[in-house]
Amino acid sequence: MNAPTKLAAPAIPFAVPTSRWDDDVAAKLGAAELLLYRSNLLGSDLTVTNFGGGNTSAKITETDPLSGAEVEVLWVKGSGGDIGSMKLDGFATLYQDKLLSLETHYDGPEDDDKMVGYLPHCTFNLNGRAASIDTPLHSLLPFAHVDHVHPDAIIALAASSGGEEATKAIWGGKIGWLPWKRPGYTLGVQLRDHVKANPGVEGVMLAGHGIICWADSAKACYEHTVRLIADAATYLNARLEARPAFGGQRVAPNPDRAAIAAGLMPRLRGLMTGARRKVGHYSDDAEALEFVGSVEFKRLAALGTSCPDHFLRTKIAPLTLDPARLEDESYLAAQIADYRELYAAYYERCRRANSPAMRDPNPVVVLVPGVGRITFAGDKTTARLAGEFYGNAINVMRGAEAIGDYIALDEQEAFDIEYWLLEEAKLQRMPAPRPLVGRIALVTGGAGGIGAATAARLLRDGACVLLADRDGAAVEEVRAGFSKQFSPDVVRAAVCDVTDEAEVQAAFDACAREFGGLDILVANAGIASSAPLEETTIALWKKNYDVLAEGYFLTSRSAWPLLKRMKEQGGTSVVFIGSKNAVAAATNASAYASAKAAANHLARCLALEGAPSGIRVNVVNPDAVIRGSKIWDGEWRQERAGAHGIDAGQELEDHYRQRSMLKRDVLPEDIAEAVYFLASDASAKSTGNMINVDAGNAQAFTR
Ligand SMILES: NC(=O)c1ccc[n+]([C@@H]2O[C@H](COP(=O)([O-])OP(=O)(O)OC[C@H]3O[C@@H](n4cnc5c(N)ncnc54)[C@H](O)[C@@H]3O)[C@@H](O)[C@H]2O)c1
Ligand SMILES: [Zn+2]
Repeated sequence: MNAPTKLAAPAIPFAVPTSRWDDDVAAKLGAAELLLYRSNLLGSDLTVTNFGGGNTSAKITETDPLSGAEVEVLWVKGSGGDIGSMKLDGFATLYQDKLLSLETHYDGPEDDDKMVGYLPHCTFNLNGRAASIDTPLHSLLPFAHVDHVHPDAIIALAASSGGEEATKAIWGGKIGWLPWKRPGYTLGVQLRDHVKANPGVEGVMLAGHGIICWADSAKACYEHTVRLIADAATYLNARLEARPAFGGQRVAPNPDRAAIAAGLMPRLRGLMTGARRKVGHYSDDAEALEFVGSVEFKRLAALGTSCPDHFLRTKIAPLTLDPARLEDESYLAAQIADYRELYAAYYERCRRANSPAMRDPNPVVVLVPGVGRITFAGDKTTARLAGEFYGNAINVMRGAEAIGDYIALDEQEAFDIEYWLLEEAKLQRMPAPRPLVGRIALVTGGAGGIGAATAARLLRDGACVLLADRDGAAVEEVRAGFSKQFSPDVVRAAVCDVTDEAEVQAAFDACAREFGGLDILVANAGIASSAPLEETTIALWKKNYDVLAEGYFLTSRSAWPLLKRMKEQGGTSVVFIGSKNAVAAATNASAYASAKAAANHLARCLALEGAPSGIRVNVVNPDAVIRGSKIWDGEWRQERAGAHGIDAGQELEDHYRQRSMLKRDVLPEDIAEAVYFLASDASAKSTGNMINVDAGNAQAFTR
């Protein structure tokens, strides 16, 4: 590594939030809606609370549905969801008097898990939303409105050796301080006792965790929370201005970092063997680059994250790699193996008699100086969120180090949260993932009829898809549609002409960088042409062979190194979209049909060559997919109608339907279904095959 250069770039400051409360909006809202409004305001402002973090409550007088009596009900954010996007149904509602009476069942910290089991008995109005483990923090405090959040600036104080002193310096005695305690009934009791012992206190810092504060009205509570965060951010920013973050810069951002990430991610993904395939997420945002390139990087990364919210997503510590050794295959393999061993050792050291079995020991966060932050998880959204949470952890370390030493969470405490039986029960209740979750597909011609239908089919079962097409506007439109229909996380588009070697390579590089590798290639980009032999120009001949033969060759060749990496995980699949005409001779389409035949034979050759690497290669032969296909919008339609001596309108569809043995239309979705079968593990034992999807055409029977 380079010698420290200690560039004095100023540290990235904390955002200072301001109130976004609107009295006109609030004036129209009832008590529960005001709580929702306040929660959404807090949660949708990422300077206030990170995704999914925090909870809010209000104690509201309601009419008991059974007795008709007025009762006090605790509305508190329930289990799951996040306060930024939640609706009213995200709140658990519980009888406050019953919640308070629970204390008769409590004998001390050992009872925390037991106390969770009593919460459903306090449910008001048959509300199905489960109460979260944070509920006692709200019920035991004697205040009408309570907020609990974990913004970076607050955790920075909570996770620093200088945090308690800074808390005093910022707020005098108005904000209390409690040592680390994992959320639950005991923490609720400690909070209540602290408030009793310190009358007038307006909130309490929870070491290693966040803050809890309160007020008499929804507006006052919201503005109090925002002000406390702003106070913390302003205080930290004043200290960060004085010196560069993390001891200054040691490794400058590498201008080639995106290409380095694209090369590295599929190799890491291939090494992360285990029950499920991973999807990757790369970021070179300012926070990540500042941290990984800093003097203090290695020391701080090894300490691990602090807030439970963070490490549940990121694992306690990241894997750090030496940028000078990335090309060394054995180095990477050893790094992953070591990480897994260290994780297993951590599990063995900390496990309790009734701990759930060890979970996936692969790293989630991988950090590379000069390159940035790469995260891996079972699906794309989880990988992205893990990265963002590590970004929060970086901010916390930056702030914490500005006022003292950053303090990571004690290993046993971290373990007890990670392997909490309640957490395990939640995991066990989750439905099994859809069959293609964790798979990454690239579909060429993804903007076209068959390509888009295929992409949709793969997306529907959980795959991530990169759409590659030479038509930039069309492919962007399809991407935008899928992004709404599925999620912006799982779909990307690349403008790529499959006859251009460099563009093809760039599309696969983009796939590697955006998702981490490749499991499924659908070679589909195509054209069609029709001309009698004597009128077939060399240009027309070449065009067909360029797109259909060479295009399939180039895409397969660029896919190959990515596909080969996944042998240990069960292998990969290439699907060529062939044609009936690849098998059955066609009149007046010799260039097209013979080029399609060349591609189909290429598929067989690749099936042979790919088998030792776990790569399966199969073909789907469509015929007469008229609806949705752009090929059939153009000249091909006129030419084919001409060749059959019929008109190019409805008659043409009728003609093809009648020509089929089953007398049915073939739709893009029908082709997509066959591709799906060949792409998925349902066909794990098939390679070198062809499936005709043509409503029956005896001429095209394979023999
Ligand atoms: N529609 C049919 O009846 C039928 C029958 C047999 C085979 N096929 C084959 O199915 C595949 C898809 O056809 P479709 O019906 O969806 O047609 P389509 O025209 O709707 O889609 C083809 C897509 O490929 C793209 N494309 C064309 N040349 C490209 C290139 N050089 N680089 C990148 N992208 C390119 C186009 O922009 C278009 O988005 C083709 O290979 C075609 O030969 C179709
Ligand atoms: Zn919390």
